Amino acid sequence: MASPRLSPALNVVVAAVQKAGRRLLRDFGEAEKLQVSVKGPGDFVSQADLVAEETLRRELSRARPGFAFRMEESGLSGPDDWEWRWVVDPLDGTTNFLHGLPHWAISVGIEKRTGTDTSEVVAGVIYNPAADEMFWAERGMGAFLNDRRLRVSGRKDLREAVFATGIPFAGVPRKTEFGQILQRVMPQVAGVRRFGAASLDLAWTAAGRYDGYWELGIHPWDMAAGLVMVREAGGFATDPEGGDAWPGGDVVAGNTALHGRLRDFVAEGLAAAAAQRSARPAEPAPGARAPVPAGGESPPRG
Ligand code: IPD
Repeated sequence: MASPRLSPALNVVVAAVQKAGRRLLRDFGEAEKLQVSVKGPGDFVSQADLVAEETLRRELSRARPGFAFRMEESGLSGPDDWEWRWVVDPLDGTTNFLHGLPHWAISVGIEKRTGTDTSEVVAGVIYNPAADEMFWAERGMGAFLNDRRLRVSGRKDLREAVFATGIPFAGVPRKTEFGQILQRVMPQVAGVRRFGAASLDLAWTAAGRYDGYWELGIHPWDMAAGLVMVREAGGFATDPEGGDAWPGGDVVAGNTALHGRLRDFVAEGLAAAAAQRSARPAEPAPGARAPVPAGGESPPRG
């Protein structure tokens, strides 16, 4: 893919994700074959994930030696006084990859430090190698799919809306919260989808394929590139209270007309789950999915 609009830093990212993506695609072919084996493709896929992360680290640090890293598998690295940082998920949608489902992506965000403990994401790339779809966005420049400018959907009527989400899975808390939110969304909309890669959920919202997306407890590497993509496509991406979703936690994204409605469903669902818990004190307290550990410990897969 070549575009005159790509900034030098994004050119670096595009080249790096294409390289990592070629290798992941070959590994995906192997993982598909391993579905029927007794052992399954588990170890093979973990290895593919690590190799992709190392490829990205090598390519990105060669081009920008001063940038730090926040990576899903290996955590934080680079200078403590970083001004710029790569936020990398080398394989988002690992469970899909593991099961031979061709819906997974490499996600790289570019994070800029704005204060001692504050930062913002200013650009990002989300690449789906199986579909050869390169989503990219840069603050003030817009969001693109390959060379095509992206806009969030124009739908205003909830009854026509399709929203994406992430369903909590084994080992992940807040199933009660998810249930309360889903109960509110489900009867009002045309459909709810769970495709299994948060970065693509955000990219597809930016592309107008989904009218919105919500998920509880996601990580910086899941959302970094996607947040800037939705905003640059003219949508909103916030937490359930309307504040900034960065650098991690609960996210609600959507087009301008429906984001507020979806955010209300999420906020009401969270409040109802809290009330349900206080009415049944014996139930264990929820606790949000672990905040990002300083060392970047790997989360459970989804
Ligand atoms: C997961 C996927 C999934 C989401 C989980 C993420 P991973 O990322 O994005 O859709 O529901 O919250 O952890 O583990 O495949 O990189």
